[in-house]
Amino acid sequence: MRRVSVFGATGSVGQSTLDLLARRDDIQVVALTGGRNVSRLAQAAIAHRAEIAVTAFDDCLADLQAALAGTGIEVAAGCEAVAEAGLRPADWIMSAIVGAAGLAPGFAALSQGTTVALANKESLVTAGRLLLAEAARHGATILPVDSEHSAVFQALVGEDIAAVETVTLTASGGGLRDWPLADLARATPDDAGKHPNWDMGQRITIDSASMFNKAMEVIEAHEFFGLPAEKIKVLIHPQSAVHALVAFADGAVMGHLGAPDMRHPIGYALNWPARADLPVARLDLAKLGRLDFAAPDLARFPALALADVVMRTGGAAGAVFNAAKEIALDHFIARKIGFTDMAPVVEETLSRFASRASLTRSPGSLAEVLAMDTEARQLAGEVANSRCRGAA
Ligand SMILES: NC(=O)c1ccc[n+]([C@@H]2O[C@H](COP(=O)([O-])OP(=O)(O)OC[C@H]3O[C@@H](n4cnc5c(N)ncnc54)[C@H](OP(=O)(O)O)[C@@H]3O)[C@@H](O)[C@H]2O)c1
Repeated sequence: MRRVSVFGATGSVGQSTLDLLARRDDIQVVALTGGRNVSRLAQAAIAHRAEIAVTAFDDCLADLQAALAGTGIEVAAGCEAVAEAGLRPADWIMSAIVGAAGLAPGFAALSQGTTVALANKESLVTAGRLLLAEAARHGATILPVDSEHSAVFQALVGEDIAAVETVTLTASGGGLRDWPLADLARATPDDAGKHPNWDMGQRITIDSASMFNKAMEVIEAHEFFGLPAEKIKVLIHPQSAVHALVAFADGAVMGHLGAPDMRHPIGYALNWPARADLPVARLDLAKLGRLDFAAPDLARFPALALADVVMRTGGAAGAVFNAAKEIALDHFIARKIGFTDMAPVVEETLSRFASRASLTRSPGSLAEVLAMDTEARQLAGEVANSRCRGAA
């Protein structure tokens, strides 16, 4: 039996992972973790006969204990308990907690030298260098789960990264891609929270409309594949059928195509290095008829220009960028700032942080990353508040 843990089991990626695990009979589920959705966590723990279920929140412990009473499944709560679950021996661990909370469990998982399927974007963006060093130190394997990075990873099988000229990540353009530029300032969270192709949570869907999601992915690709900023491109591709393109020195371009379903990249990571049958729709190109591509307009998507700044700056810039865009998004969802205020909040936070401390100095430990995250959130809060609607 293969021992498997899922961090963020109650979320979108976590549930897709459990869907795949439920179809197999060679899996022993070790740890499942969640946040506030206790009933979903308990249901999953029972259905998958997990050894332990952990909620990140102490005040959810009593409910989780009650839901799992008499099942023999261990129960725990708190951030430390989630990280400790990452130390439980497992052959494959899905890292799908959202946000900076995913960092510590991810590091714990890597320390046991196992295979970690990495969905948590924030890990690579905020602490890419540390994370890869931790994996190397313990002989752990990180497999990318973001669909674009999985696509690049698959296109690179058997290839020499030195022969790569460019990597292109595709972007649907999000829910506002057809809006006139002048109207974007009045877009609401509901407008931005509708995705044309992918079924995801509200935050990541809004991040798709603002292209902050793609900006995070560009930085992830830079960190994970070790490619310089100038080799990473973004192309608007409304059909979301091509996930990424890798161009090589001999002029060849390898593209990865597939239906937009996260169970493909998750399943690829689960079966890697083999391929196995997956319950995803098959791409019917004749039915699709056409594939469109366009260069992104940086006036419409300033987040992409900020990603470029972050890659060229290096050091702490990724941690500050991530924290600032989270705070800007919180303010937009709370309708305190407008859609087009988010990028200026991030830009100003990066510049204010740089005037206080060195942005180019890389954090030397996970604790330092988390301290920078806290400081940048506070700074971004001040910047966002100064732009709040009705602010003097
Ligand atoms: N959705 C996608 O298609 C997709 C694609 C590629 C990459 N990703 C990345 O994968 C990660 C997960 O995305 P998602 O869409 O699955 O997110 P999601 O649906 O919001 O799920 C997030 C998971 O994290 C848990 N969680 C929330 N706060 C936590 C905390 N403080 N400590 C521990 N656990 C906490 C949630 O628990 P509760 O729900 O129980 O509170 C849930 O299990 C993100 O980094 C995202 O950017 C997502």
